[in-house]
Amino acid sequence: MASPALICDTEQWKALQGHVGAIQKTHLRDLMADADRCKAMTAEFEGIFLDYSRQQATGETIDKLLKLAEAAKLKEKIEKMFKGEKINSTENRSVLHVALRAPRDAVINSDGVNVVPEVWSVKDKIKQFSETFRSGSWVGATGKALTNVVSVGIGGSFLGPLFVHTALQTDPEAAECAKGRQLRFLANVDPVDVARSIKDLDPETTLVVVVSKTFTTAETMLNARTLKEWIISSLGPQAVSKHMIAVSTNLKLVKEFGIDPNNAFAFWDWVGGRYSVCSAVGVLPLSLQYGFPIVQKFLEGASSIDNHFYSSSFEKNIPVLLGLLSVWNVSFLGYPARAILPYSQALEKLAPHIQQLSMESNGKGVSIDGVPLPLETGEIDFGEPGTNGQHSFYQLIHQGRVIPCDFIGVVKSQQPVYLKGETVSNHDELMSNFFAQPDALAYGKTPEQLHSEKVPEHLIPHKTFKGNRPSLSLLLPTLSAYEIGQLLSIYEHRIAVQGFIWGINSFDQWGVELGKSLASQVRKQLHGSRMEGKPVEGFNHSTSSLLERYLAVRPLCYMSSFRILAVMVNQYPKDNLEALTLGFYSFL
Ligand code: F6P
Repeated sequence: MASPALICDTEQWKALQGHVGAIQKTHLRDLMADADRCKAMTAEFEGIFLDYSRQQATGETIDKLLKLAEAAKLKEKIEKMFKGEKINSTENRSVLHVALRAPRDAVINSDGVNVVPEVWSVKDKIKQFSETFRSGSWVGATGKALTNVVSVGIGGSFLGPLFVHTALQTDPEAAECAKGRQLRFLANVDPVDVARSIKDLDPETTLVVVVSKTFTTAETMLNARTLKEWIISSLGPQAVSKHMIAVSTNLKLVKEFGIDPNNAFAFWDWVGGRYSVCSAVGVLPLSLQYGFPIVQKFLEGASSIDNHFYSSSFEKNIPVLLGLLSVWNVSFLGYPARAILPYSQALEKLAPHIQQLSMESNGKGVSIDGVPLPLETGEIDFGEPGTNGQHSFYQLIHQGRVIPCDFIGVVKSQQPVYLKGETVSNHDELMSNFFAQPDALAYGKTPEQLHSEKVPEHLIPHKTFKGNRPSLSLLLPTLSAYEIGQLLSIYEHRIAVQGFIWGINSFDQWGVELGKSLASQVRKQLHGSRMEGKPVEGFNHSTSSLLERYLAVRPLCYMSSFRILAVMVNQYPKDNLEALTLGFYSFL
């Protein structure tokens, strides 16, 4: 019998659909009373502990999900990924981010060629370059050592490195290595982001790293040209070779941009943008800031989870369990969102990174074979570190919509503090919330409990918590470069598992193209109107009127210096020449 085209047509999918009613009759209050069930719903790897007992699931649910994994050929799909088969079929590419952190002696083929030696040759080049840079031997155009790095890139060329940088910043070992240095990011094409990213920086001591897989992304290229101009206007054109380097798969365009090809760091089309933090995209800027040995630890952490994911049985496989439970929540229980709640300020950029990783990967409308899907894939990911989130959106999570939550905690703080006389240390205070919130969500509070507390009758409905809200807890032993790599890899593989089960291509991103091409049309119009006075044409009524309103004001940057001066004279007291001159230069 030919295998069904869509996963939702399988018996295993239907069995799960049939099981939903039984689960909906249960309450987490009762499920949590079964200690054996709770004990079974855990998994551990290298001290990372996953407790998923607060999922609306029983042993039977997990059995059924494991059968679904079999029906979806999950094992075979994971193997195909690790073996470099072209599972990104719409782009005819392998998906080999695991090769980026594989040990030197590993063999991973793409198109019949072992890619591991190439990966290591780029890493060796980064190691050498970062050592030269950090030792002060690499000097800028005026002979000064460079201590500031601005990494220019967007999407996957930004969010992953930002997450890792933010997480490493307060790790004592990494912080020690980064003393006296700054790493900043410039992503948005908004000139305000340019201004912020170079505020108080001197081009003389700054290195700009242009990070773009394609080297054609409009935002990144304009930002790169803007910073090139910033360097040239201060240090002259010859300074570019000492103050600008690049990371890309498109070395031809890097050269055309004017960056010395010797200062370009390659990666490959088999690395998806959002999966590229372990390539030069992340490894270069992070090595410049923290030194290669710290970054190598991060890569080793990611690699340890790759091995766990590849070789552990699904029953105890953390990314597989997480992926299956997400499919259960989205496709069977109908919960469209997921909250990522790290009880660690160092993980404050985890949620924005996972947003791209998950939503760009799994927000698809057709199967990998192009068949329209009668089911929703992907979820709406959002999050904030606890306890900040508690004072923001937790009201909705506790009494409004049901949103499955990932609680992520760390046993040992990066920066422990205990104030004499306080009940607990500051980290214990934080973690009290990490342990309490999942139970508040699961158990809720009944009207009976409120009555026994003598709560006034009219407040009972307002103070009742229905509970039965699913969450899972992931407890990490500590948060050094190694565990940061592990956490990244756990999420990468969890998201891949979801896509493999849904039968979609989690590695392409055609959905970002339409908006980009419409923006080109608008760019052309803005140019024509600003430079040649062309009327707004070819848009619908709404867009035309918005554009006309926008174009009615001519920004100062389009005016000649004389015209700006004329405007300034009208704005500043004419008898105060100093204010007038300062104002004129600030506008320029
Ligand atoms: O948002 C679309 C996207 O293509 C992402 O997948 C990618 O990470 C980002 O743009 C940046 O692309 P590039 O690295 O080629 O500049």
